[in-house]
Amino acid sequence: MSTSKKILVTGGAGYIGAHTVVELIAAGYEPVIVDNLSASDKTLLRGVQQLTGKTLNFHQGDCRDKNFLNFVFKTQGPINCVMHFAAFKSVGESVQKPLLYHHNNVGSVLTLLEVMSEHAVTDFVFSSSCTVYGQPDKIPVDEKAPFKRAESPYGATKQLCERILEDVHTTGFRIISLRYFNPIGAHPSGLIGELPIGIPNNLVPFITQTAAGLRKKLTVFGNNYNTPDGSCIRDFIHVGDLADVHVKALAYLEKDTRKNVYDVFNVGTGKGASVLELVNLFIRTTGAPLPFVIGPRRPGDVEKVYADPTRVNTVLRWSSRYSMEDALKHAWAWEQKLHKSH
Ligand code: NAD
Ligand code: UD1
Repeated sequence: MSTSKKILVTGGAGYIGAHTVVELIAAGYEPVIVDNLSASDKTLLRGVQQLTGKTLNFHQGDCRDKNFLNFVFKTQGPINCVMHFAAFKSVGESVQKPLLYHHNNVGSVLTLLEVMSEHAVTDFVFSSSCTVYGQPDKIPVDEKAPFKRAESPYGATKQLCERILEDVHTTGFRIISLRYFNPIGAHPSGLIGELPIGIPNNLVPFITQTAAGLRKKLTVFGNNYNTPDGSCIRDFIHVGDLADVHVKALAYLEKDTRKNVYDVFNVGTGKGASVLELVNLFIRTTGAPLPFVIGPRRPGDVEKVYADPTRVNTVLRWSSRYSMEDALKHAWAWEQKLHKSH
């Protein structure tokens, strides 16, 4: 593995980006991190530095700012690949602020592609989401499943970005879209993890904050779905496993000699678990108190979705290392550490 390959990581101060930076460094790459800190601060960057012993190459700026990106590409180049995590990700907020979501999520992709083109950088790994499928007709869902009309502007931005990437790849880009299922957990060291600003929207940070006493109780959104225990079913994947897929995607692009590539992979474990199963597993594995009530369904939620991960298993030669139990233990360790250090 080359030690000098520079990877531009947008959104590298965020949850998945920071975990990926750790894996990139471990694999011998040099991450160049870009983030505007709109949905994060420098806490995870400090954790990554502590974990890896490396001083991070961090540039604060916006992916829609062409001058800023040009400066980074010019001064940090040559860049071998761009991993694009930077985006807004709150489904509910996207309904309130659709223009903001389209501007940020689609605008960032367009600007990045333009700047990459000007600097002859071809390789791009995109953070997509299983939300592009909506409620699929067939589960487990594979990559051939059609896109349903997106339930939210957030989902629409991921569909639009994928379409843009598919359209432009014929002009000399080599692109992989990774459709993440539900990332959870934290680094086993407890040094980095999920750090939502304000009240968490996602299940696991809400659970850990409730168990830590920051929230009064968890509401399970619905127990009358057509599932064995009535709660929604998801494919929960450890964030460390997800980070690892990005390194495998890079290796795949490096080996691939084609000039134009557009490839899509589901990134999930292939196992569906219900929200109530996860809640009960959290209580069993951590012993932490977790008051919860059953509430109404959350608008826009998909009843059940989990991945057919055959392509990522066979083509990228990736499979998950961690269990859901590991992920919950790690998430809890991270939450507890946060309170010790503040
Ligand atoms: P996050 O909010 O923790 O990280 C995103 C980072 O991008 C933040 O640090 C934010 O400050 C930065 N950012 C946002 N807009 C920017 C811009 N215009 N310029 C520069 N920086 C910007 O989110 P995450 O959970 O790490 O998600 C990373 C990616 O994965 C996103 O594209 C998200 O849509 C996608 N994704 C996440 C999940 C999930 O459940 N976490 C699931 C599927 C897909
Ligand atoms: C959603 C998006 C996904 C997006 C991700 C990022 C869909 C189908 N999926 O995932 O594309 O990338 O957000 O934020 O839109 N839950 C509770 N109580 C809570 C919180 C959640 O019961 O307090 C339940 C939800 O109803 C859901 C499950 O937990 O069934 C997971 O929710 P969440 O963590 O928000 O992720 P998704 O909605 O699956």
